[in-house]
Amino acid sequence: MDYNFDQIIDRKSTHCEKWDVKDGELPMWVADMDFKTAPPIIDALEKRTAHGIFGYSYVPNYWYDAYINWWKNRYDFSIEKHWLIFTTGVIPAISSMVRKLTTPAEKVLVQTPVYNIFFNSIVNNGRIPVECPLKLIEDGPRYVMDFERLEKDLSDPQVSLMILCNPQNPGGIAWDKESLSKVADLCFKYGVTVISDEIHCDITDPGVRYTPFASVSDVARDISVTCLSPSKSFNVAGLHSAAVFAANDKLRHKVWRGLNTDEVAEPGVYAVEGAVAAYTEGGDWLDSLREYLYQNKLFAVDYINKEIPALRTFEENATYLLWIDCSKLPDEGKDFARYLREKTGLFISAGKIYGKNGVSFVRMNLACPRSIVEEGLRRLKQGVEQLINERENIS
Ligand SMILES: Cc1ncc(COP(=O)(O)O)c(C=O)c1O
Repeated sequence: MDYNFDQIIDRKSTHCEKWDVKDGELPMWVADMDFKTAPPIIDALEKRTAHGIFGYSYVPNYWYDAYINWWKNRYDFSIEKHWLIFTTGVIPAISSMVRKLTTPAEKVLVQTPVYNIFFNSIVNNGRIPVECPLKLIEDGPRYVMDFERLEKDLSDPQVSLMILCNPQNPGGIAWDKESLSKVADLCFKYGVTVISDEIHCDITDPGVRYTPFASVSDVARDISVTCLSPSKSFNVAGLHSAAVFAANDKLRHKVWRGLNTDEVAEPGVYAVEGAVAAYTEGGDWLDSLREYLYQNKLFAVDYINKEIPALRTFEENATYLLWIDCSKLPDEGKDFARYLREKTGLFISAGKIYGKNGVSFVRMNLACPRSIVEEGLRRLKQGVEQLINERENIS
């Protein structure tokens, strides 16, 4: 079926976090998409709405089946029904697990640059984030894991939890089996539990399949809790619908206890229907979307390479987020996101929120119609040229 991802849909006046900006500004920051969700999801929610009664819900069997079949069919990974727990969001679940699986003043490791809200889940609960930087290599250029540094950081007895981001936001990397296996072995060696946030797993480049952390070895499966959700893949973050699974009974019981104590384990009526429609009928739409997003990415990378040589992009194979190196700009691009918004209205994310090593970077969300990507890139170029010209005139 053909889907019209070129259609521009006005999201203003819908309490939309992304688009609640000044007139003339172009928001390409927070990770949601400017596309309508898949038609089967809209149909399922309309059907549920027509029923007209919105009382308390429980999680029906077909919700479990939807997750199990999606992961089996798309990723050849078998999730057992009793491993799965519904939760209202990945971040509510991660915050709850940080509280349940660690004690105050313990350390939680993240590989930076990484999704900024992980820091909130750690710091707001009185735990200490340990930034273990990913390594940038010229082959690509691309990010790889720095295992020497990872081992050193994991060996700190105060580190009891690691939050893995697979695929990595903002770097756009679906991690390979070998890297994930090494993470599992090192975490096992130092007694560290892994939360694998796999919320971006469905959005990979066409032909690329992400590897679930729990699939790489028995060790990985035994020491980890995985977070899943249709929210990024199907643009349904507002439904507050997610899941965690853990194969290890003891670990799962702890997580289940924590999620229930924190009251983040009960679904709203739309959360179940939306997830089930996504995972049972949304595959065709998702694959068309992935192709469209891939073309957006190719277009953006090509444009930046040709038109904005001061910036650098990286080899990515997942997510709709483009991570851009601005270190060749004046002041190493440290305040570039703010400058760009002020001078051109293009609102993208400043890299420093993703960790100390993100300071000279920006993150651009390409999940929008191509014409918006084109306009965003035009403003990006304008901002770079204006900044360079201003500095040349001063010196
Ligand atoms: C890696 C990652 N985890 C979690 C979230 C948010 O998840 P939720 O809305 O389910 O709390 C995001 C949103 O951008 C994300 O990028």
